[in-house]
Amino acid sequence: MPRHAAVHVDLDAVAHNVAVLKDLVAPAELCVVVKADGYGHGSEDVAAVAVAAGADRLAVALVEEGQELRDVGIDAPVLVLSQPPPDAMVDAFAAGLNPTVDTAEGIAAAAAAAGGTPWPVQLKVDTGMHRVGCDPADAVDLARAVLDAGLELQGTFTHLAVADEPDRPETDEQLELFAAVLAELAAAGIDPGLRHAANSAAALVHPAARLDLVRVGIATYGVPPSADLELPVPLEPAMNVRAEVSRVRSVAAGEGVSYGLRHRFRSPARLAVVPLGYADGVPRRLGELGADVLIGGVRRPMRGVVTMDQLVVEVTDGPEVAVGDEVVLIGRQGDEEITTGEWAEMLGTISYEIVCGFGPRLPRRHLTRISHGAGFVDGWADRPAGPEPDPSGGGGS
Ligand SMILES: Cc1ncc(COP(=O)(O)O)c(C=O)c1O
Repeated sequence: MPRHAAVHVDLDAVAHNVAVLKDLVAPAELCVVVKADGYGHGSEDVAAVAVAAGADRLAVALVEEGQELRDVGIDAPVLVLSQPPPDAMVDAFAAGLNPTVDTAEGIAAAAAAAGGTPWPVQLKVDTGMHRVGCDPADAVDLARAVLDAGLELQGTFTHLAVADEPDRPETDEQLELFAAVLAELAAAGIDPGLRHAANSAAALVHPAARLDLVRVGIATYGVPPSADLELPVPLEPAMNVRAEVSRVRSVAAGEGVSYGLRHRFRSPARLAVVPLGYADGVPRRLGELGADVLIGGVRRPMRGVVTMDQLVVEVTDGPEVAVGDEVVLIGRQGDEEITTGEWAEMLGTISYEIVCGFGPRLPRRHLTRISHGAGFVDGWADRPAGPEPDPSGGGGS
C-alpha cells in the first residue's frame, strides 16, 4: 500500500529552470548540482531531465552519488565537487567521474587510479571560504603536479562564501583573488581549463562570476538561494509535499493536543490528523510555531508539536474537512502557496536545509504536467523511473 503522503517533484519545473538558467548564463556552461539526492528531489530523475533540458554537466559531492548516476545510464560529465578520499579514486575513475583535487596526496591518488590515462580532474582553490581547496599560493605547483602526473587539468575553480548576500564586498574580493591565481597559471604557461566560481546566487545576480561555467544547485529546483535576492529570471519550485487527512475529530474547550499537551484549545475545536512527521522531515518545532498547511485551498495552522509520524492541524474555521482530503505542506493549492522559504524563515534556517530534510521514508513521485498553458495545469502523470534514453548516445569525459 502506498503511503498517503509523498514528495511530488514537478520535473517540468526542473526542465523550465534549467532552460532559463542556461539562457541567462550563456555562453558559460551550465553544471547542475545533484548532490544529496538532488537536494532531496531524487538525483536520478532530476539529472536525466536536467541533461535533456540542456545542462552541460552534473556535479555531486560524493563518488557514490556519481556512481548512482552512471548505474542508471546517465553519461554526462560529472564533477565531484571536493577531493574524494584517496581510496575512492579508483571507483571515481572506473565510473568516469571528474574528481576535484586540492592536495598533492589527492593528485597522487588520482594518478595511481588513472594508471597513465590522462584522466580529466579539476583543481579547487580556496579564495576565502576556508573549507576545502588549496591555498592560492600553492595553485601553480599543484596544477603543474596534475600535468606532471599525466592527468588532464579540466578545470580550475573556487567557491564563494557570501554570494547570496549581494551587498557584501567579499564576493568581489574572492573573485579578484581567483583572477590573480588564474593570471599566475597563465604566466606559468598552464591552461587552467574551465574557470568557474559561481553557485546559484552568483550565477543569478553576479554576472562577473559566471566565467566559463556556473555550478547551479538550489536554483535548478526553483528555490531562491535567499530571500534577499531579486531573481532576474522566473524560477518554478519543483518540490511539493502532499498528504491526505487520515482522521478528523472534535475536541472540547480546555483540551490539549499532541505530546506534552502544550497547545490547549480555549473553545471547542475541529482537528485533522496528517500522516507525516519529523521522521519524514517536518521539523518538530513547526507545530509549536503554528506553521500552516493547506487544506481545501485554505491555510490551517498546525497545533501542538509535530510527532515522529503524524501532525495535527486545526480546521475549526473554513470549509469542512474530511478524511482523504489533500493536505499541502509545501506547494500550491488553489490560490495559496507555502514555500520552503516560509518554513526556513520560521525556523531560522535556509531553504536548502528544508528541501534536503525530507527523508527517504517519504516516497518521491516524479511528475510531468499533462497539459498546461498560461500557467494552468490540468493534471499530472507519473514519469517512469530512470533517465530518458539519450538519442545521441552521449559520452562522458
Ligand atoms: C562547490 C559547490 N559548488 C556549487 C554548489 C551549489 O550551490 P547552490 O545550491 O547554492 O547553487 C555547492 C553547494 O553547496 C558547492 O558546494
